[in-house]
Amino acid sequence: MHRRPRRNRRSSAIRSMTRETRLSLSNLIYPLFLIDGKGIRSEIQSLPGNFRLSSENLLQEIEECYQLGLRNFILFPAVEEKLKDKTATYSYDPNNFYLQTARKIKEAFPECVLISDVAMDPYSSDGHDGFVQDGQILNDETLPILAKMSIAQAEAGFDLLGPSDMMDGRIGFMREALDAAGYSNTGIMSYTAKYASAFYGPFRDALDSAPKAGDKKTYQMDPANQREALIEAELDTAEGADFLMVKPALNYLDVISLLKNNFDLPIAAYHVSGECAMLIAACQKGWLDYEQAMPETLLSIHRAGADVILTYFAKDYAKMLAKK
Ligand code: PBG
Repeated sequence: MHRRPRRNRRSSAIRSMTRETRLSLSNLIYPLFLIDGKGIRSEIQSLPGNFRLSSENLLQEIEECYQLGLRNFILFPAVEEKLKDKTATYSYDPNNFYLQTARKIKEAFPECVLISDVAMDPYSSDGHDGFVQDGQILNDETLPILAKMSIAQAEAGFDLLGPSDMMDGRIGFMREALDAAGYSNTGIMSYTAKYASAFYGPFRDALDSAPKAGDKKTYQMDPANQREALIEAELDTAEGADFLMVKPALNYLDVISLLKNNFDLPIAAYHVSGECAMLIAACQKGWLDYEQAMPETLLSIHRAGADVILTYFAKDYAKMLAKK
């Protein structure tokens, strides 16, 4: 045998030298759930180790992450039912708790990367990402609402806006509205290929944001489709997106790889709540080893082509690196 691949696996030093993929904290984005009030730290039952935090606790959480070297965050609001309405009015009230906390975060941690969520569902009495009329999710009627939300978020200081709604044309619509309002430096991390997935359950528990009627299949993508992701990516690129995201991540590694190979924008992957929850559950049962299975999982998403990964494991990964 002239070729013996095992030679390059002989020692830890050789393995490290020939390692093709490395994951660092700068590749990770940590999702945080914000709730209005004081002193709140309520654990999400279906996503152990993750909490709905009130503002001061959330700032404390960011401080802890900072000390571990983690500086990228995406923020989601858990809104009280009584503040929800058909047009998500509360989402662009400049004094809402989400925008107020974003201002505090950027004041305390100016160099963090703070990402928003642009979609109606946390604020909508229908629990849908778009405007609902007679059981239909209306596309073009939703766009001005998303634009108002975007401008309010840019004003609050978010570095990147994350439209997770899957309405057609929203990237261009948001881009124009942001530029016209003087926010040409605020970026857009588009949820480009977001699938109608069964793996968002714990997230919807966290925000109490499940649709009141119907499902999201008329706007989120069919899990069976790969080539359709190319259409979405072409549109988002042409409309001015700064990042293309695939969501979920693990069940869609082929889509991540496809976009990575066909587009030049940075690729993000959202390792969603249900994907994290199933690993946590298996580890709690003692069926898998968390400290081994978790980093392998994150690495696989990076290897498939994701430049950045949104994951509930970001802080634990940072803790593991700090221990080494
Ligand atoms: C909704 C939104 C969802 C997630 C992020 N933004 C859920 C949905 O589409 O119903 C899911 C994230 C996760 O499961 O971790 N705009």
